[in-house]
Amino acid sequence: MAAALGAWAVATPQTHVPKAQGAGQVWAAVRRPEVLRAMWLVTLPALAFGALNVVGSLRLDSLGAGTAAVAITFLVAAGVEALMSPLVGRVSDRRGRLLPVRAGLAASFTTDTELPYEVLGAIRVEDQAQFHPRMFCLGLAEAIVGAGSALYERTRALELDGRTVVTDRGRISAGAVVVTSHIPFVDAGGYFGRMEPKRSYALAAQVRGERPRGMYISVDEPSRSIRSTASGWLIIGGEGHKVGHDDDTRQRYAALEAWASDTFDTEPVEHRWSAQDYQSADGLPFIGSLPGHAGAFVATGFGKWGMTNGVASAMILRDLVQGRDNPWAATFDATRVAAKQSVKSVVSANVDVAKRFVGDRVAALQSPDAAELAPGEGGIVSLDGDTVAAFRDDEGTLHALSPTCTHLGCRVSFNTAERSWDCPCHGSRFDVDGHVLQGPATKDLLPKGL
Ligand SMILES: Cc1cc2nc3c(=O)[nH]c(=O)nc-3n(C[C@H](O)[C@H](O)[C@H](O)COP(=O)(O)OP(=O)(O)OC[C@H]3O[C@@H](n4cnc5c(N)ncnc54)[C@H](O)[C@@H]3O)c2cc1C
Ligand code: FES
Repeated sequence: MAAALGAWAVATPQTHVPKAQGAGQVWAAVRRPEVLRAMWLVTLPALAFGALNVVGSLRLDSLGAGTAAVAITFLVAAGVEALMSPLVGRVSDRRGRLLPVRAGLAASFTTDTELPYEVLGAIRVEDQAQFHPRMFCLGLAEAIVGAGSALYERTRALELDGRTVVTDRGRISAGAVVVTSHIPFVDAGGYFGRMEPKRSYALAAQVRGERPRGMYISVDEPSRSIRSTASGWLIIGGEGHKVGHDDDTRQRYAALEAWASDTFDTEPVEHRWSAQDYQSADGLPFIGSLPGHAGAFVATGFGKWGMTNGVASAMILRDLVQGRDNPWAATFDATRVAAKQSVKSVVSANVDVAKRFVGDRVAALQSPDAAELAPGEGGIVSLDGDTVAAFRDDEGTLHALSPTCTHLGCRVSFNTAERSWDCPCHGSRFDVDGHVLQGPATKDLLPKGL
């Protein structure tokens, strides 16, 4: 059995090539309490079995058992010992401790972080890369242009006609079309009903003292994500919520800012921004053929993991476009039917949509008068007997629009921090003059006469 296990271990490909370590580093690592605890955990069962084998054999001998009986007991004990480790491993795996190992990541459990507060425990994943997303995109753009490829900026895709994209500046034909407009701009696959739009917030401040070098994300709520840059910026993210489901989004920034200054020695916050991303019910993106459109593909639902999921999509779609197999294509299949558990969350998300559709209309019956809006405020108000979505700008001018989202008719709600109209149903966003900022809506909100 030992030989078989040894052969299996040698044949298993190495997922992580460890860096060479000097004796000093090894000694420092071995003295760390969590490493010592882990060593005891591994060593104790072996010691206990060793002691049992010796004591048990002596006892059998004193009872007059023969050599064969002692040898059989030895063999059985060795078999039990050999089975124990995989069993213990399997149990801890089921409980989630070893999930990163199953994903092929080199990870370890630790309580030792560079964060300025105690943590109960953390999973450390080695050898991660931190990207500057804009530089990454600029590099890609540079690589794309030429050799028969072109980039068209400031061009809105409106429709898909076979393998031709109809845009507001002309038609573009291709051998294959890949739709990556966040949520597809074409009404195909019903993705707006299979994913939830989640908004999230970030801010950046210079940090005076030591800044953490690693990338951190908390598992508890409210979630906090921490990065830093070589030029001294500390980036804090978090405060996610469903789009259009927050009465005063300015409080989200306030909460992040308070946490940043309470936790780190920061200069005043200089940059803040928010964005949204779609989360599928089973947590995996949809990558593959776009339903109902031969020769078209889609990648959507990155669930706030766009750097990795975007690259994974590119690798899968490259193979699909070229008619090659990809081992991950079935897992991320864009036409997959939700698993049992995710059906439940799709249903609950759509019940929520229905509640907003009806509830927001009932609430609008008691809407305040437009005259009550102060400069900088927006809301669903009454104007000349009509219910409108109105925003009063800093100069006092009222911008009044139809409150009905042009996607499927839900009532939009005002996003106080971004000064936009956000739809609580599927995440469309419009500026204060009604122009589409983000789909799935493709038509602007209608203006209301003043
Ligand atoms: C606050 C926050 C922090 C995040 N942090 C991280 C992180 O640390 N790491 C990470 O991996 N991910 C992170 N993410 C997630 C990541 O930003 C997203 O997953 C990713 O940007 C989504 O990529 P996408 O290509 O689907 O959509 P987008 O990045 O939104 O790109 C879609 C593009 O399509 C364009 N478009 C839309 N409609 C049309 C149309 N009709 N015609 C033409 N063009 C159109 C849009 O203008 C846009 O440029 C974060 C997200 C948020 C909200
Ligand atoms: S985004 Fe679907 S109804 Fe508004």
